[in-house]
Amino acid sequence: MTDYTPTPDDKFSFGLWTVGWQGTDVFGPASRALLDPVEATYKLAELGAAAVTFHDDDLVPDDDKRDAVLEQFEKALADTGLAVEMVTTNLFGHPVFKEGALTANNREVRRYALTKALRNIDLAASLGAKTFVLWGGREGAEHGAAKDVQAALDRYSESLNLLCAYVKEQGYDMRFALEPKPNEPRGDILLPTIGHALALIAELDDPDMVGLNPEVGHEEMAGLNFAHGISQALWHDKLFHVDLNGQHGPRFDQDLRFGAGNVRGAFWTVDALLGAGTGKAYDGYVHFDFKPPRAEAEDGVWESARGCMRNYLILRDKVRAFRADPDVVAALAAAEVDTLRTPTLAEGESLADLRAASYDVEGLGARSVGLEALDQLAMEHLLGVR
Ligand code: GCO
Ligand code: MN
Ligand code: MN
Repeated sequence: MTDYTPTPDDKFSFGLWTVGWQGTDVFGPASRALLDPVEATYKLAELGAAAVTFHDDDLVPDDDKRDAVLEQFEKALADTGLAVEMVTTNLFGHPVFKEGALTANNREVRRYALTKALRNIDLAASLGAKTFVLWGGREGAEHGAAKDVQAALDRYSESLNLLCAYVKEQGYDMRFALEPKPNEPRGDILLPTIGHALALIAELDDPDMVGLNPEVGHEEMAGLNFAHGISQALWHDKLFHVDLNGQHGPRFDQDLRFGAGNVRGAFWTVDALLGAGTGKAYDGYVHFDFKPPRAEAEDGVWESARGCMRNYLILRDKVRAFRADPDVVAALAAAEVDTLRTPTLAEGESLADLRAASYDVEGLGARSVGLEALDQLAMEHLLGVR
């Protein structure tokens, strides 16, 4: 039996900006000192992480110090064995991106945003990152006529096509992952949900190179079911990466540690990542994108990071126990969950056969479905009484 201490085999990964968040919010300045990203890398390795991720500005905000910082960072990676599995570009912080980046109305801004992304793709490739995340925090609007949405989607796809072509031309082993979010910082962000992003990807020149990096809180802010969202992404072979964190329903983006907030949602999220019994499972890094609450001092930052991993491991155990429980297997059968895998039309049957058959509509309407019994078993596993 495990004591829920993470190991590199668990493939946990952290954004350097997560533990590095200083607590700056709209009501107040930083509440914590700046954390050196290289020191954070050592500390995350000590806690049991397998990889780190970063935005260009988290690690190398300053061109003058770029080479020196990269040297120290690469030493930290070599000393700890940590990988850089994903890299992303900050296309939202600087005021130059105040009205958007890849979809800004201003063409110079769009051209600059592309150069910033390209430069960082080179860095990502040199560090061995296989996933490049694009979160369009400022790609959106607050005012109706201020954004020609169709033109913005043209420019979004143009940029993605150019970035994909660049990666292929350079021979980099890298795929892109779009991160949907409904709002914050913009009033309305383009590609607000998993579904919107999937639809855009299908229109690109090289759709196989672009997938998703869904975040728990972002879907839940829109009142959506995260486990269902990532299950659909898996179905499309588009779950390239994931941002796990916690959220209490539709409100501002809380970025709580994984497992906090909607704990039932977290249980089903882990279940979905493991393939929900019989489906496709996620095999990438288990990446946390959370913000240690502003009230915490540095000790709380590490407690929060530890909690993300520990909660994932606890929930993974609970999900496995749930799926292995013979009472659950029987309840799933009683609820006909496995029957859904049988095609609706039998082999060799025609729609005419289907129409000619007779149906006991009243009897079917009155049938038992066993859903509460099944869900109660899940609840009892989660609450620790089974
Ligand atoms: C947020 C986003 C970001 C992105 C990150 C990667 O809501 O703040 O989740 O944290 O994940 O910028 O591009
Ligand atoms: Mn978020
Ligand atoms: Mn995120």
